[in-house]
Amino acid sequence: MAKFGWDPQQYGRFADHRSRPFFDLVARIDADPGRVIDLGCGSGELTATLADRWPNATVEGVDSSETMLTQAAAGDYPVTFRQADLTTFMPGTSYDVVVSNAAYQWVEGHETILTAIASDLPIDGWLAIQVPGNFDAPSHRIIREVVAEERWATALGPDFALRHDPVLTPDGYGDIFAAEGLAVDTWETTYNQVLPGDDPVLEWVKGTALRPVLDRLSTVDTADFLDDLGTRLRAAYPARPYGTVFPFRRFFAVGHRIRH
Ligand SMILES: C[S@@+](CC[C@H](N)C(=O)[O-])C[C@H]1O[C@@H](n2cnc3c(N)ncnc32)[C@H](O)[C@@H]1O
Repeated sequence: MAKFGWDPQQYGRFADHRSRPFFDLVARIDADPGRVIDLGCGSGELTATLADRWPNATVEGVDSSETMLTQAAAGDYPVTFRQADLTTFMPGTSYDVVVSNAAYQWVEGHETILTAIASDLPIDGWLAIQVPGNFDAPSHRIIREVVAEERWATALGPDFALRHDPVLTPDGYGDIFAAEGLAVDTWETTYNQVLPGDDPVLEWVKGTALRPVLDRLSTVDTADFLDDLGTRLRAAYPARPYGTVFPFRRFFAVGHRIRH
């Protein structure tokens, strides 16, 4: 399971920017499915759009986070949600569409897992994933710099580590899909997101990349840490009259087991 907590409210603050890659991903799926599953579905709003798109399909979502799943259940969507850990969960052979948006970057060794999922995909099945490709962006470099400084390294403990390189490139995923006999469609997009408000990059990373850090720090340390990080992020991403530009690179891979 993900060993840190998720906050659906914080994550949802930039829902429009966060949902755009999901729609870009699923736009490449040309299916008329009976069963659909969303792996790492989070709070379920995006999973629900799959049920809107394919009203005759059974749509399911799995996630490890209780807080995310509680929010999903409150949405009263025509989707079955359940708790599962993507490090071990295998959808098997009965789903026509397997989607995962912004989740596998949290799952160590997901190359092997995706190989197994691709291998199980039925004829005419689709596997579509999106992961962030921004681990070398200033935002992430600055977070790594700050957590490595003595005060924060001590507060976070000797066993704390942020993974530097948790994803493959798009063609890396394409190679995995192709090796399992799928037709491959991969690409990357950098979204020049214009974020409103004060400290929007800090607010953004509080919803995702900082989750493991925030789970470890005491309340007092958290306030100081965010203050310190916020100053550096403001310098790296200066506010402009129309907002703060926060470029965000994302990797996409879609595989299709073509019926011959
Ligand atoms: C960035 S959110 C994305 C949520 C949703 N797919 C979306 O696009 O809005 C990442 C999600 O992956 C889930 N996740 C991370 N590691 C997981 C694991 N090992 N098993 C299941 N879910 C996991 C988190 O709980 C979280 O809901």
